[in-house]
Amino acid sequence: MRKNREKIINDELSALNAKFLLRFTREVENLRGKSITVDGRQYFNLASNDYLNLSNDTELINAVREGASEYGVGSGGSRLICGTHGVHAAVEEKIAGMKKTERGVLFNSGYNANLGIISAVLDSNSLALCDRLNHASIIDGVKLSGAKLVRYRHCDCEDLEVKLEQYRGKFKKAMIITDSIFSMDGDRAPLDEICGLSEKYDTFLLVDEAHATGVFGANGGGLSEEMNLAERIDFNMGTFSKAAGIFGAYVGLTREKKKFLINKARPFIYTTALPPALVYGIIRCIEIMQNRKEERINLLKNAGTLRGKLLSAGFNLSNSSSQIIPLVVGHEQKTTHFAEYLRREGVFAVAIRPPTVPPGTSRIRLSLTSALSRKDTRIISEIIISAGKSLNII
Ligand SMILES: Cc1ncc(COP(=O)(O)O)c(C=O)c1O
Repeated sequence: MRKNREKIINDELSALNAKFLLRFTREVENLRGKSITVDGRQYFNLASNDYLNLSNDTELINAVREGASEYGVGSGGSRLICGTHGVHAAVEEKIAGMKKTERGVLFNSGYNANLGIISAVLDSNSLALCDRLNHASIIDGVKLSGAKLVRYRHCDCEDLEVKLEQYRGKFKKAMIITDSIFSMDGDRAPLDEICGLSEKYDTFLLVDEAHATGVFGANGGGLSEEMNLAERIDFNMGTFSKAAGIFGAYVGLTREKKKFLINKARPFIYTTALPPALVYGIIRCIEIMQNRKEERINLLKNAGTLRGKLLSAGFNLSNSSSQIIPLVVGHEQKTTHFAEYLRREGVFAVAIRPPTVPPGTSRIRLSLTSALSRKDTRIISEIIISAGKSLNII
């Protein structure tokens, strides 16, 4: 009988392998700044979401140390039992300040936040309108809620309105959900128009600023800050795991909606609160992130220069307009070869394949950090262009 269970697992793994979709973890060392060491070799790191290079920031490391000595490493319970310490309340005030909202809520991760918000608000009599390229945690949140999932074409407000006309009247509650900066394409959602549609059709609006936090907005508050939309978004979420360089996630929202989530969001209620030491670090990291104005500007300038070079060379970069630049190749095997070629030349970038991206759009995802200089970016562009030519991608 045991053999049978092993066979089921092995057959599924073989099927993934045959389609070049098998994944594995890779141990890395010295994930510092612009470089990464894997199996003893150092590479340019174009795979990390540590956009502002804060994950090894001395001030942040000291803050977590200080937090551990002062408040301990474990929270002792869930937020509603005995896990809300002074630092949890303080970080939620900081979140509200950063997002310019009445209140803030801390979640244990971005994945948890999306699951929690969506399944708290929506139920089996609700409608969820999702951009086709929304992050997996959003789709999982909709599945957990039992709501009807309707996907509109990527960043296409005409299609969104067609779907609103078609479905909105049939459901009591509805929510439009979109990433602000898309994780795999690096493009921007048309947030202004989406806010307008959410108001016109009376839907909740959840915006996921995971990849915009720290990078967009004068104070790093995300695209909603840059576009001055804070008051028009019901649930303005993002993570501390990317540009903030640490861990955890947030939602900016009104006082009433905070009360609601605390009572209804299961991933908030039924899990141990984040360690106070870490939360103390998050408080410091929000302050640091807000002051990294020059780094934000340079990062986006550097990304623009790299994009220009790659576009002129003939790469398909989707509609990237951020620090995330996809090199869309199409076929899984060719994309995997491209990533291997780049690694041989000293650039560490990852092949992203289905189901993370739609079939036929496999790509190398380049993500830039503020640690890369203009000279580094020039060297990297030369390596990528030469690889693209050798593999007949451009
Ligand atoms: C758009 C988006 N939302 C949510 C998440 C999940 O965030 P976390 O890593 O904090 O769980 C991610 C991260 O992969 C993401 O890219």
